[in-house]
Amino acid sequence: MKSYGEVKNLPFKNLNGISDKTIDIHWGKLYQGYVKKWQELQERLKEGVSRDLKVEESFLADAVVLHEAYFDILGSDGKPTGSIINAIAKDYGSFEEWTGHFKALGIASRGWVVLAYDFNDGKLRNYIADAHNLYGVWGAAPIIVLDMYEHAYFIDFGSDKKSYIETYFKNLDWKKIEQKFNKIVKN
Ligand SMILES: [Fe+2]
Repeated sequence: MKSYGEVKNLPFKNLNGISDKTIDIHWGKLYQGYVKKWQELQERLKEGVSRDLKVEESFLADAVVLHEAYFDILGSDGKPTGSIINAIAKDYGSFEEWTGHFKALGIASRGWVVLAYDFNDGKLRNYIADAHNLYGVWGAAPIIVLDMYEHAYFIDFGSDKKSYIETYFKNLDWKKIEQKFNKIVKN
């Protein structure tokens, strides 16, 4: 199993509509920076704990987890497939209903939108996070993760969040999403 302190490989070469420059900054600098900061924090924690250090640990750990989940499911053609489509429709009334909620939350969130499998009641549910470690629910496993921080889209879309969200959907890899869903649900 991968540690928070290891950099995961970028799972795609490039994306449609999201530039290499954005990915270089986002994955190359920001994500890898969080991994490094998490490692450094573990050293500081060996010297003693404090409230501030534990708050910082949750911020860095969630930054690593959410960024890996975001990059993991990009790099394909965005065509929905797999049993997760039915599972989403079951919990949201229809797949389109879920898509509408998820996109609306993309506009509303200041940080992340996450479709998670919530182990507490066995349902798929959208959550938002205004910062990496804000408003997540314990026991809910992220499956589809959308980064709404400006660094994810501003170079390519300016303030046009809507176009960024549509482009994100067009790059989703539903085979990988299905694999992740099956792994989580069968555990
Ligand atoms: Fe990000």
